Amino acid sequence: MDDKLYALILAAGEGKRMKSKIPKVIHKVCGMPMISHVIDSARESKVEEFAVVIGHGADMVKNQLGDGYNYIYQKEQLGTGHAVMQAVPFLEHKQGYVVVLYGDTPLITSDIISHLIEFTVNKGYNAGVLTAELDNPAGYGRIISDENNYVKAIVEDRDADYKQKLIKQINTGIYCFKIPDLLKCLNKLNNDNAQREYYLTDVIGIMNEAGLKVGACKTRRIHEVEGVNDRVQLASAERFMRYRILEQNMLNGVTIIDPDNTYIGKYCEIGQDAIIYPGNVIEGQTSIGEGCILFPNNRIEDSIIEPFAKLQCSVILESKIGENSTVGPYAYVRPGSNIGTNVRIGDFVEIKNSSIEDYTKVSHLTYVGDADVGKNGNIGCGVVFVNYDGRKKHRTTVGDNAFIGCNVNLVAPVTVGDNSYIAAGSTITEDVSEYSLAIARARQTIKPNWAKNKYKK
Ligand code: UD1
Ligand code: CA
Repeated sequence: MDDKLYALILAAGEGKRMKSKIPKVIHKVCGMPMISHVIDSARESKVEEFAVVIGHGADMVKNQLGDGYNYIYQKEQLGTGHAVMQAVPFLEHKQGYVVVLYGDTPLITSDIISHLIEFTVNKGYNAGVLTAELDNPAGYGRIISDENNYVKAIVEDRDADYKQKLIKQINTGIYCFKIPDLLKCLNKLNNDNAQREYYLTDVIGIMNEAGLKVGACKTRRIHEVEGVNDRVQLASAERFMRYRILEQNMLNGVTIIDPDNTYIGKYCEIGQDAIIYPGNVIEGQTSIGEGCILFPNNRIEDSIIEPFAKLQCSVILESKIGENSTVGPYAYVRPGSNIGTNVRIGDFVEIKNSSIEDYTKVSHLTYVGDADVGKNGNIGCGVVFVNYDGRKKHRTTVGDNAFIGCNVNLVAPVTVGDNSYIAAGSTITEDVSEYSLAIARARQTIKPNWAKNKYKK
């Protein structure tokens, strides 16, 4: 028997209440689309194959998620039940269980999904519904259950009568169905309700009529099952997830001085004894090594910061900063940069697509673009690596132990050899051999008493 575990994620709705040109499920929470959070949690709970129902903004959703999913197209969004009906060709002939999730519940965890699956399978239910008790259940479907915890029906908020509206047990929108039982009941759905939609929730009543058993799997973790329908709820999900991530990092041994003003992505790794000051935003696939100090206000994205580096007020994108190096304040390290160990990148320095080897100092007001700079060098203040000729970019190479004086232009392509010196103010257009001194500027002349004579007639 095929007892594989499938997940069906509903993501075709427009999300009118978001008032957006972007489909709701790809609005981001902690830097990642809501639907990706849902899929990640399902994957961690051992779901083996995914199908995603797309419709509104289908191409945008597909572009975000990429390959690796069975996409099912729901041409018109006629309700959550209608969305699942579009998945019949995918589910047909399958014997296992399918977890149905909505793409707008980003806070859901793998623990809760696993618990629902075990609950349904182990207790022999034909379906399990994840439910929660809310003080303010407005907007959610209400669970009509009996004393044995069987779910008899789900009534949508808009269709509920006065008495049903008082019920506090709500439908989280997360279900686990035995596939053949779901298929048996799906085709009996109709749209006879306040919204003229095919509600997936009606399947529960239909299953009951067919003598099938539906269990209510209650969770106390009410924040984890909150749906996002508008931007107020989006901000609240962001806040909740941000704290969840921050707390995990703190428990792992990271000092976060002001959690209210620190932003760390879900997939960032931060080593023990790192200290994070307020105003840091750490995103994407970033790792921060042990003992690093992030002084206030850095933005770090998809980068590797090796242990004991110190950063301040800087932007680091798709780059690597080596052990013990310091960056900033106000440095801009752009994609493709590889900074060695014990390097100093000072204030108002921009580095782009360049490598800088160990112990080199680039202390102030310098642009290094498309260059390979050796170790132990000193790049003076105000140096410009002139990498663009108006049409093409060219590379510059600077050897080890080189001393580049202040205000030098290195016009690429050009090579500066090991142990050489470039005099301040030089514009270098030709290669400089090792151990030499290059001076490329007009010689100073002095005209004595010139100023005194200037006004004499
Ligand atoms: C739904 C449930 C409600 C539950 C709540 C939990 C139904 C009828 N109601 O209400 O009982 O308490 O979620 O958050 O299921 N979608 C499609 N195609 C459609 C319509 C919706 O794919 O035709 C998708 C949406 O993209 C969304 C999800 O289904 O991700 C839920 O739709 P939404 O309109 O937000 O349902 P709710 O009104 O929140
Ligand atoms: Ca919703």
